Amino acid sequence: MKYSMAWLSYRRLPFCEGKEYFRKIYVQEENEITGSAVYELCRGAKELLGIKTVVIKLPETFDQDKREKTEEGIYLLPDSKGPVGGGYRIVEENGRIRITAAEPEGLLYGSFDLIRQVQRGVSLRGINRLKLPDNPLRMLNHWDNMDGSIERGYSGNSFFFRNDRVLVEERTEDYARLTASVGINGVVINNVNVTEKATRLITGEYADSLKRMGEIFSKYGIRLYLSLNFAAPMELGGLETADPEAEEVRAWWQEQMKETFRNIPSLGGFLVKADSEGRPGPLTYGRTQAQGANMLAEAVRPYGGIIIWRCFVYNCTQDWRDRKTDRARSAYDYFMPLDGKFEENVILQIKNGPMDFQVREPVSSLFGSLKNTNQMLEVQIAQEYTGQQRHVCYLIPQFKEILGFHTHCREEEDTVADIVSGRSFSHKNCGMAAVANTGSDSNWTGHDLAAANWFGFGRLAFDTSLSAEEIAREWCECTFGTDKAVVYAICKILLMSWPAYEKYTSPLGIGWMLSPNNHYGPNVDGYEYDRWGTYHRADHLGIGVERGKTGTGFTQTYLEPNASLYEEIETCPEELLLFFHYMPYTYRLKSGKTLIQHIYDSHFEGVEDVEKMVNLWEGLKGKIPDEVFKRVKLRMDHQLDNSAEWRDQINSYFYRKSFIMDEKGRKIY
Ligand code: GCU
Repeated sequence: MKYSMAWLSYRRLPFCEGKEYFRKIYVQEENEITGSAVYELCRGAKELLGIKTVVIKLPETFDQDKREKTEEGIYLLPDSKGPVGGGYRIVEENGRIRITAAEPEGLLYGSFDLIRQVQRGVSLRGINRLKLPDNPLRMLNHWDNMDGSIERGYSGNSFFFRNDRVLVEERTEDYARLTASVGINGVVINNVNVTEKATRLITGEYADSLKRMGEIFSKYGIRLYLSLNFAAPMELGGLETADPEAEEVRAWWQEQMKETFRNIPSLGGFLVKADSEGRPGPLTYGRTQAQGANMLAEAVRPYGGIIIWRCFVYNCTQDWRDRKTDRARSAYDYFMPLDGKFEENVILQIKNGPMDFQVREPVSSLFGSLKNTNQMLEVQIAQEYTGQQRHVCYLIPQFKEILGFHTHCREEEDTVADIVSGRSFSHKNCGMAAVANTGSDSNWTGHDLAAANWFGFGRLAFDTSLSAEEIAREWCECTFGTDKAVVYAICKILLMSWPAYEKYTSPLGIGWMLSPNNHYGPNVDGYEYDRWGTYHRADHLGIGVERGKTGTGFTQTYLEPNASLYEEIETCPEELLLFFHYMPYTYRLKSGKTLIQHIYDSHFEGVEDVEKMVNLWEGLKGKIPDEVFKRVKLRMDHQLDNSAEWRDQINSYFYRKSFIMDEKGRKIY
């Protein structure tokens, strides 16, 4: 089945101020990445503007400062004193657009940016844009399995793997184009849970196709990464142990890495899930996470490789009767004592919250606490817990809040954005990663509107100062054109969607009231008596997990003043109240409402919001491609039903528990 090109699906524009620039493109330095930049500019010119471009090679002696002698057109010019690290400058003067950058990646990103301006109807006359990426690493983590399935994938099958084969197809390149167009520069193609055949990805068995894939990615400035199996020395090498301190294990990894990097020279390194949810790791051998990560770091160092080590380590065989063990504390308790013990080419990848991608969680207390360790923020655009690409849930506003969180690790530059960009502690190996939401569906993301999360993650990781509104608008204009009514309605839907989802699902930061395993739809007690450490502790008097000093003490893992802020009920942000404290249903919130009334009201409101979203969408009939209209309409109708189910189950549950009536006398079952 042929697929769309999402925001790169160019439609012919009736008008573009400055389109004549695209008649000639001048390049000074030819390499594979500038080749892609030229290709993209030509393609954009042809499809958006109906212009055939002439590409002209400039002599090496070309002096860009003598611009009055040059002809009109677009100039791609390497500039060793220009913007670095993938940054670029676009300047129009006297009929010439110059894109300058210190590295070829910058010229590619600048070209995509220029096309975006054309798509958005921005006049190119007098354009002057300087952009420097905030985060050195901007990655997608695909949880694709070799059989073609995708763990927590909601948009079809993998386009990287099928029947234990690695796929290198036309779609690989189109994926690279889309991904690079928003500034992503690293991609992990296989699931963090590495088993069976996937363990063999580091061997020669898949070398040819991985090498080819790596080459396609490289043309677009993207590095290929793999997830690896910590127990590979046993499973592949036949050793009796995977102990990171055992000589034979270290030797095995060193030999293996020599072969792997020889086979796939463009490989960037590895992502590792160890000691988590049944995956093997150093703890089995009484070793620390640092010993495990450093052993691998040493093996990949000669090839410039990095090890991205996940902090998602917790006890998943907990007893619900145990109120002292707290999953929220886990990553902090494991990793905080190891601050400063990791090699320079190790990065700790930390999920945004201490639990697992819930609609609302506090920011992980590792951010700000770890000062001497490279760090990366991990978010999830796959919407595992936020409607699985069947509900609209535009997550960029959530990511903005996370990035803007003040950890108070320093007087200034103390936000998560400062830390993961390297500003706070002068780290070089750092950045942002998102668990990807793509698959083989013809629109890539199942829900057409979910593409805004893919686009948005890339744009935000590149430029964390962009607002969620700006990103929504950009995506919308590139995807659907600049019709004001269309842009207004779609942006409105997107921006309403995360708050709406929060309202009709779990209240005030408690999370987890959903069906176990598949994580879809309401089930208040689904996880309550299970082993995963995910409890709401509701009884007939109140609800919430006590994480203050009298409870699990998790509040105290934050730096001051956040520790006190979360500890005290009066100052604890209300949207996180039940995450941090057990509260009676009769407690009065700042709004003057009781907690129970808030639960009822927000659930009714959430569904009303979805009704508004559906109405907004219905107003777009005839204004956007019919097939997209219908596809989204079907999903939104389902979202409305499903949100009503959430409302009714949650409200009935708490009504039956508390026996307190809704003040407004609405229907609660
Ligand atoms: C969640 C998710 C798993 C995934 C895990 C992880 O628990 O449900 O499917 O493997 O996160 O991030 O490793």
